[in-house]
Amino acid sequence: MISTKQKEILAFSYSPYDALICDGAVRSGKTSLMVVAFVDWAMREFTGQRFGICGKTVGSAVENMVVPYLSRAYAKRRYTMRWRRSQKILEIRRGRHVNWFEVFGGRDESSFALIQGRTLAGVLLDEVVLMPESFVNQALARCSVEGARTWFSCNPGPPSHWFKKKWIDRKREHNALYLHFEMTDNPALSEKTLARYRSMYSGVFYERYILGKWVAAEGLVYPMFDEARHVLAAPPATEGEVYVSADYGIQNATVFLAWRREAGTGRWICLAESYYSGRDEKRQKTVAELADSLDALLGGLGAAGGNTARVTPKRVILDPSAAALKVELRRRGYHTQDADNDVANGINDVCTLLGADKLAFMPCCGNTIKEFGAYLWDAKAADRGEDAPVKENDHAMDAVRYFVRTLRLVQKAGKPEYRPVWMM
Ligand SMILES: Nc1ncnc2c1ncn2[C@@H]1O[C@H](COP(=O)(O)OP(=O)(O)OP(=O)(O)O)[C@@H](O)[C@H]1O
Ligand SMILES: [Mg+2]
Repeated sequence: MISTKQKEILAFSYSPYDALICDGAVRSGKTSLMVVAFVDWAMREFTGQRFGICGKTVGSAVENMVVPYLSRAYAKRRYTMRWRRSQKILEIRRGRHVNWFEVFGGRDESSFALIQGRTLAGVLLDEVVLMPESFVNQALARCSVEGARTWFSCNPGPPSHWFKKKWIDRKREHNALYLHFEMTDNPALSEKTLARYRSMYSGVFYERYILGKWVAAEGLVYPMFDEARHVLAAPPATEGEVYVSADYGIQNATVFLAWRREAGTGRWICLAESYYSGRDEKRQKTVAELADSLDALLGGLGAAGGNTARVTPKRVILDPSAAALKVELRRRGYHTQDADNDVANGINDVCTLLGADKLAFMPCCGNTIKEFGAYLWDAKAADRGEDAPVKENDHAMDAVRYFVRTLRLVQKAGKPEYRPVWMM
């Protein structure tokens, strides 16, 4: 079964429009239907031509578009398909018609060079908001075959994003059909899956990915942080391994946060922090002195638990740029791991855990608590159509984000699964 909105994707290739733009909520059934419609259109109208299938990266395009398409019963019934993995070309035949669908990644340097040399009869740009404008322009410039069409799909971003301003707001000039999707436009999503998806996003990301709105990230990065909810008066019982996450600075602050899970609930508690700012203290500490402060922090945790030995953390999740500190910590026997520094996804994950009460702080983590109240989105970045926090009051915030993102806490808390049941 396909929804009415999805049928409009199928109808596009019979319409007089030159381009199709599908935007809206995650998992709303845009990409899967577009690939089906794109291939059917290409096979009906052309033979011996090349087409572009573009994702954020080659890898994501293959995973989100090529692989699901190859396993689709409808496609297997209708076409003879050969996926040349090393060349990233999907060859599709039907009767005497044959076309080649080449995969490109908007963010892959090598794809930019490759696509420059192509002549295409159409291009499908999935997740176009995540691609550089220069790549998209190059891809469009390659579509020189008579009758070529452009197919775009994305989730919303900031309202001043180049794609919103140049394509969605000017769809008439481009003779583009614009379709806006909501999660309910995907007939395969159950109530339970919908509820799980809604619980994965919070704040500005909820508005974009669940409600499908083009909204700016502005004001507080973590507006849901509430001392009454997220700062605990008394230490709860904790269990399992202790983790440390750390942000490193020479002039800027170096922060260590120690984490352990609350017994029974699985909520992560930030038990203690160590915060040192070379600028504020007017003296820089050496990496050995910084490592000493981590030793002291863990010694304090051991003492609080009634032990003389200091606590040994399972891992120290470390700012990936902190090479010198990493060497020192390893020398002292700590197991370190480079933090995942994906800012946008990391912030979204922290929002999600705060919103779900899966993250809390002891009152002794004063600098961290203070930063939650002062950590802001950068209005200038928003004007450029980008999401970036102001690079101030962000050191403990980085350490919190590294912890949550690197351990994939949100994904572990219940990433919804999809059964690609396809009926057409
Ligand atoms: N009509 C349908 N029948 C069965 N399954 C469907 C249908 N439409 C979509 N799906 C499935 O739902 C899932 C989400 O669809 P799809 O990937 O197309 O969404 P999307 O809008 O591109 O999401 P995102 O914005 O997250 O990329 C996929 O597994 C897809 O196969
Ligand atoms: Mg998609």
